[in-house]
Amino acid sequence: MIDLDAREAFALDVALRAGRLALTMRNDLAPADAKSAIDFCTEADLAVERLIRGEVEQRFGDSFIGEEFGGEPGEAVWVVDPIDGTTGYIHGTPRWCVSVGFALRGVIELGVIYAPATDRLFTARRGRGARLNGRPIAVSGLKHGAVPVVEAGWSERYPLEKYFELIRRMNAARFEFRRIGSGALGLAEVACGLADGYVELHINAWDALAGLLLVSEAGGWVNDFLAGDGLRKGNTLLACTPEMTEPLKAILRGLTREE
Ligand code: IPD
Repeated sequence: MIDLDAREAFALDVALRAGRLALTMRNDLAPADAKSAIDFCTEADLAVERLIRGEVEQRFGDSFIGEEFGGEPGEAVWVVDPIDGTTGYIHGTPRWCVSVGFALRGVIELGVIYAPATDRLFTARRGRGARLNGRPIAVSGLKHGAVPVVEAGWSERYPLEKYFELIRRMNAARFEFRRIGSGALGLAEVACGLADGYVELHINAWDALAGLLLVSEAGGWVNDFLAGDGLRKGNTLLACTPEMTEPLKAILRGLTREE
């Protein structure tokens, strides 16, 4: 029997503690290890993942997939990015977060994203809405009346030319694009209406899982990210206020490997 109440309370609590640990470790940051030219790992990424992973194993015995130490999904699985936006973290920006998601039999049940530098705690439980610091949030509905803003994530996992084409198409559609460097935080900002959409040709599950639930619980549209073994392999990501679904689908058409 899976106790979702207990897991929800734990997810909130551990995300806060993990975020505070990362914030403290930021003061004594040692030089980062480069996984690739743009992908870095710090001692804090490792320490935060160990903290969350250790407590999950001890309390629940569920399976665990994390950015730094990997893992295999079971029926009940935690999907965690200890620090999403590591480059921003290293550079001293506030644009990074801890992302904690939980899925049961292929359905995302819990999503918690904590951005310690701005003390923003985003939480969602399936069927119960999304919240920022305890207050209900909703996608923008384009009610601002201005040009739509779309977060366009990128990593070295996709050729830069495809990304340029994505940006060219957004520009032709007269959408404002940006990249804050944290997929999870980008999704959280769609959920609370600070951005109108998020697109990325390929993103890993630990960056996206919690944020996907936040956006759908905030009334947004999200693609079927877990299809085609998205949990292990990652996938294309599209999450937006419903009004942006068709325009963004059209922009992505033909750019991803699946097509
Ligand atoms: C990256 C960020 C970035 C996204 C990439 C991710 P990391 O994660 O979320 O915004 O576009 O796909 O790999 O390396 O900062 O944990």
